[in-house]
Amino acid sequence: MSQPFDFTGRHVFVAGGTTGINFGIAAAFAKAGAHVSVLSRAPEKVAAAVERLGRGAWGQPADVRNYGAVAAALAGAVEHSGPIDVLVSGAAGNFVAPALGMSANGFKAVVDIDLLGTFNVARAGFQHLRRPGAALINISAPQAVNALVQQAHVCAAKAGVDMLTKCLAIEWGPEGVRVNGIIPGPIEGTEGMARLAPSEEAAASVRGSVPLRRYGTIEDVANLALFLASPLAGYINGAIVPVDGGSTAAGSAGLVPAMTAGNRS
Ligand code: COA
Repeated sequence: MSQPFDFTGRHVFVAGGTTGINFGIAAAFAKAGAHVSVLSRAPEKVAAAVERLGRGAWGQPADVRNYGAVAAALAGAVEHSGPIDVLVSGAAGNFVAPALGMSANGFKAVVDIDLLGTFNVARAGFQHLRRPGAALINISAPQAVNALVQQAHVCAAKAGVDMLTKCLAIEWGPEGVRVNGIIPGPIEGTEGMARLAPSEEAAASVRGSVPLRRYGTIEDVANLALFLASPLAGYINGAIVPVDGGSTAAGSAGLVPAMTAGNRS
């Protein structure tokens, strides 16, 4: 299929865009002609991503929990590639543990990365958005919708991310900024699924629970990001769209059997 989206000359900033789904999103925008900027915590991951993204790409290490570092990265990106047309907020942290198996600081670490980090990227990024016309996309998770054992911290944080998406959509819509969310379901080849379904038995159980009976691909998620950022989605604001083969519609994140099958690290 020919590339239906053209982001030639547009500036797309992807927080967390150095690995996994977020890197896939960054690469899809680069392929569609965008200048892509990325941030993430590890300097070596930023350098590798910029190299792989190719001409016009830019990156700076920053921890999304640190507002000043996020603001500095955004300012640097704008100096390099101009005002931001598409801001993707995807940095996330996770570990698998029951509520009684984590400290208050462990809970806080994930809430700070996922929820406060999403706020920081949006709050520091707004002034750099090309308005009207810009789009903000927050990456959520099935845990925002379905409670999951050993994921209380992520469920709480991602549910907060979804509500933040809706609040920003109604506050920034009048400014010409659309704000939407994506819920990637079980996606193959990601660190998250490696943690949540570490064995082939667990992976088969997850696949069996997805109405489409397969894992999704990173490209499936990137395609939705391209669409939501494009003029074709010009009247979509405040939506949180799953790309999960029907898992959240089925009322499960597609993960419970796998997690109860033995991942208690
Ligand atoms: N079970 C219980 N608590 C855990 C834990 C686990 N598996 N992993 C981390 N924690 C707790 C730590 O014990 C610490 O709490 P404490 O100070 O009371 O001991 C707290 O979380 C912060 O840990 P720290 O190692 O300082 O984390 P960090 O701030 O550097 O990073 C994470 C936090 C969540 C990102 C970390 O778990 C991590 O690096 N995860 C892997 C990367 C990742 O999440 N990728 C995304 C996949 S979707």
